[in-house]
Amino acid sequence: MYLTGTMKVNKDGHLEIGGKDCVDLVKEFGTPLWVIDEEGFRQNCRGLKEAFAARGDSRVLYASKTLLNPAIIKIVEAEGLGLDVVSGGELYTARHYGFPMERVFFHGNNKSRQELEMALEFATGNIVVDNFFELSLLEEICANGDIKRKPGIFLRITPGVEAHTHEFMMTGQIDSKFGFTLPDGQAMEGVKAALQCSHLQLAGLHCHIGSQIFSLDSFEHTSRLLMDFIAAIKKETGYEIKELDMGGGWGIFYYEGDKPASYENWADSIWTAVHEKARALNLNTPRVTVEPGRAIAGPAGITLYTVGSRKEVKGIRKYIAVDGGMTDNPRPALYGSKYTALLANKADRPGTEKVSVAGKCCESGDMLIWDAELPAPEAGDILAVFATGAYNYTMSSNYNRLLKPAMVLVKDGIGDLILRRETFQDLLRNELLPDRLK
Ligand SMILES: Cc1ncc(COP(=O)(O)O)c(C=O)c1O
Repeated sequence: MYLTGTMKVNKDGHLEIGGKDCVDLVKEFGTPLWVIDEEGFRQNCRGLKEAFAARGDSRVLYASKTLLNPAIIKIVEAEGLGLDVVSGGELYTARHYGFPMERVFFHGNNKSRQELEMALEFATGNIVVDNFFELSLLEEICANGDIKRKPGIFLRITPGVEAHTHEFMMTGQIDSKFGFTLPDGQAMEGVKAALQCSHLQLAGLHCHIGSQIFSLDSFEHTSRLLMDFIAAIKKETGYEIKELDMGGGWGIFYYEGDKPASYENWADSIWTAVHEKARALNLNTPRVTVEPGRAIAGPAGITLYTVGSRKEVKGIRKYIAVDGGMTDNPRPALYGSKYTALLANKADRPGTEKVSVAGKCCESGDMLIWDAELPAPEAGDILAVFATGAYNYTMSSNYNRLLKPAMVLVKDGIGDLILRRETFQDLLRNELLPDRLK
């Protein structure tokens, strides 16, 4: 069984999270239901922050693409983390809910003029410039605009590192749409161009090698490469980079075989390399920033579904279907991701039957879990799928016009609705019918 944060099996044999019995949560809020364990989320923020701070001058940003809403923004702010955003929408949301904008890093490989202007207007802490086009555009906007201070920029460097993860989640390899490539000299050209910009302040380097990575060697190796690059920049230009943003990507437990490292090991993999290289290359130790998302939000979330129909293909497979699927969790269909689950209303019973869990979309690929061992699931049972806090809500869709679930934040026996369940009227909200078709 896979229980994290405040999750436990209570005296009634039910799964409990944040002091709330999942059976009660379902009675109150229905299914499918995203449930976020506030204490678990906070513990992850603190654990990461402390592990990095113990090793040197660090800051931890939360990657908002994993899960963003007003409650999460307030928690992240209170825990003292910064925020990584990648679009005008995320930027707007952060600002709307009062997040301190000096703690925001703005990423993206194709930021529009409007998005960059918005970032400047909001006095966003740092803009992570991804390419030459963006660098000139930002310089031009600043040169022609009424900008009171030089914005701090980071350059996204693509180090040419192939991290071991799904190919759609690799971002550090040479053939990538992101960043200034290191091995072919583009990154050095980018730094020189940035130093020529009279309206921008080069504050640091950024890289992000991918997501759901377990190999600490990948982080260590990349940190060494980036430190070598800082030394090369100093030699060629005389300018010494003061901050290194090593991105996110730390892998979490979804399924047997997944072996996440501890916060301390992860921090060590980066910090040891940075300290060693700083000494060896006679550099000042840069500040280290990291921007994990999945490691904070993922384990803190579960999804509750109601079991419905059942089908058996004799000698081949037993299917059970739930009232959600690829619309609330596209990851199995997109990446072949595996998940762990149990029946929340029978959490104390051992798995006795091998079943595959299907979603309700009109797609054969809409399978949430293949071959789960569950205690003879029946219609009406509540299926709890673990580690769905990251990249589920934010990647959800209305495919087949399914309604997006509600989300509840649980803590100390209280469940607060933080996202309303969609209604059929919501589906019609932005639709228009031309008069000629009426
Ligand atoms: C630039 C950047 N930073 C941080 C993250 C967060 O990654 P993760 O959720 O794997 O920690 C991502 C995710 O892909 C990213 O693209």
